Amino acid sequence: MSQASFPAQSFPATRMRRGRSSPWIREMLAEHRLHPSDLIWPLFIADGKGAEEPVASLPGVSRWSVDRLADRAREAHSLGIPCLALFPNTPPALRSERAEEALNRDNLVCRAIRAIKDAVPDIGVLTDVALDPYTAHGHDGLVDAAGYVLNDETTEILTGQALVQAEAGADIVAPSDMMDGRVGAIREALEAGGHRNVAIMAYAAKYASAFYGPFRDAVGSRGLLKGDKRGYQMDPANGGEALREVALDLAEGADMVMVKPGLPYLDVVARVKDAFGVPTFAYQVSGEYAMIEAAVAAGAGERDALILETLMSFKRAGATGVLTYHALDAARLLHG
Ligand code: PBG
Repeated sequence: MSQASFPAQSFPATRMRRGRSSPWIREMLAEHRLHPSDLIWPLFIADGKGAEEPVASLPGVSRWSVDRLADRAREAHSLGIPCLALFPNTPPALRSERAEEALNRDNLVCRAIRAIKDAVPDIGVLTDVALDPYTAHGHDGLVDAAGYVLNDETTEILTGQALVQAEAGADIVAPSDMMDGRVGAIREALEAGGHRNVAIMAYAAKYASAFYGPFRDAVGSRGLLKGDKRGYQMDPANGGEALREVALDLAEGADMVMVKPGLPYLDVVARVKDAFGVPTFAYQVSGEYAMIEAAVAAGAGERDALILETLMSFKRAGATGVLTYHALDAARLLHG
């Protein structure tokens, strides 16, 4: 066939597929990379000794008793995971209307912090600041007679809770309660208490989400929760409001911010990162984890690929890192 029947302009000068034509060039042109240091591993803590309690709605995830946490921390550290996030399943007898156990210097989470720091001083420990693992009604704060979650009264207790965690050795406290003004109050108390280098990761844009169900099973608050959390957590209809929340938390002294849940709120992750340029984390929450595991169990997808693709989507959106129950698996995959 002659040249004339295939004029040059009938071929695209730009062939995007050149950049996809072999593994090495794909690797070379990748805009984002996942690394084990992007991952924070949330761990549930059980009372008792020698315990591993599988969480039925989170297949592959267990609660571990304090004496078994050192091994988990060593495993995470050896895989290059920089930080663990701790969530206690407080024994029912220790839950109360006013969440006194949150201020107990020897509560489950404080014992867990000490056990981890003793065994692996070089791994970061992040603790959740909220009252839901300690209240008899499952809310993140104190509730008045009408069922309203009280803001300022709750903030006072949260401040004490954060101090207790810092004294036990927490490196990052992460208020997840969505009370107004709590980041500022906690920062002030940490400074006054001499905890200048204890950082705050604010759950700045935390939504009233249907994706928290398995987590509430894991910390034992699902059956207790009266009503819902829409009076303090954000409305899923709102994106711009997240920017106001982040601005406030940063002004109050947050060192880093979080968007939660993750995948259904990637637009918020991207907007927050673009607007503020601060360390921005996403929490791939329990329901998201369960959704992936259910898809795999139903034969709807390949597990390793689903894990890595969803985690990469956070990086593409601009996230600094991700809290994920898949952290260990992902780190292993990344090490090849
Ligand atoms: C509690 C808290 C929740 C999660 C993290 N901290 C649940 C809630 O707000 O009800 C959810 C995490 C997950 O679903 O994995 N303040």
